[in-house]
Amino acid sequence: MNEKQEQLSTNHLLGIKDLNKQDIELILDTAQNFKDILNRPIKKVPSLRDITIANIFFENSTRTRLSFELAEKRLSADTINFSASSSSVSKGETLIDTVKNILAMKVDIVVMRHPFAGAGRFLSRNIDAHIVNAGDGAHEHPTQALLDSFSIRERLGEVAGKKVVIVGDILHSRVALSNILCLQKLGAEVMVCGPTTLIPKYIDSLGVKVEHNLRKALEWCDVANMLRIQLERQDIAYFPSLREYVMLYGLNKEILDSLDKPITVMHPGPINRGVEVTSDVADSDHAIILDQVENGVAVRMAVLYLLAGKRS
Ligand code: CP
Repeated sequence: MNEKQEQLSTNHLLGIKDLNKQDIELILDTAQNFKDILNRPIKKVPSLRDITIANIFFENSTRTRLSFELAEKRLSADTINFSASSSSVSKGETLIDTVKNILAMKVDIVVMRHPFAGAGRFLSRNIDAHIVNAGDGAHEHPTQALLDSFSIRERLGEVAGKKVVIVGDILHSRVALSNILCLQKLGAEVMVCGPTTLIPKYIDSLGVKVEHNLRKALEWCDVANMLRIQLERQDIAYFPSLREYVMLYGLNKEILDSLDKPITVMHPGPINRGVEVTSDVADSDHAIILDQVENGVAVRMAVLYLLAGKRS
């Protein structure tokens, strides 16, 4: 039986890997309550009035960082913001020392983005605060996957039984792994689609379908999540040219209109218009890209609220 949980089973949000189905449903249901509040004239609640949150970003971010900051403000938390480029990290300070100094200021929750996989887990073993992974290298981006599932549920009614294809640079994507784990735990079928060189060899062990032909993938799916080509993480050329990639894996209105059913188009951002999707697709009624951004605030409010509830 699928009994509802009232608390998360974990003290940190390091990855979807650590969550069970009930945790995910609890986060999504709590996020729905917060979304209802965000649509009211007074959007702020006092839930985290005594909680201090540090947002520490060792990598660039627009959506995730602003979304966490807004979620914290809406919950009435006190916040401090730290970015590596303007900090003493450049003077040789270690991650642990940096965070211990931040925690000395009585911080309860640390939201961290870091270029190295496992950085959040490392911190959780050495620091007495709840850690939220806001993206660790090419490993996991759990709040992105949660907001993506929330957005699918909102658009299609439920996630269970839906067919979702994740298209593009699966190899370098933390969004892909977190989405695969989250969608599967909620009962969706998942396919990945892209050039052979951008599909990791371990993908079979995750129980997802693999398709290299975009049209076939789109004919199969209810939802297409179009990922960005992560040129900043590509040390070698994984495909002959961007022009060829766009011809084979770019989603345009012509392909979308030629399918015999409507599909939902998602993108975690930032979008490279004309590469993963054309502008007419990104701005069409098929796309829920800005809904994803809107839902990100409610989902992050839910995560912070539930973790704060575990504070002893
Ligand atoms: N989707 C996402 O993580 O975007 P940012 O890198 O802008 O935070």
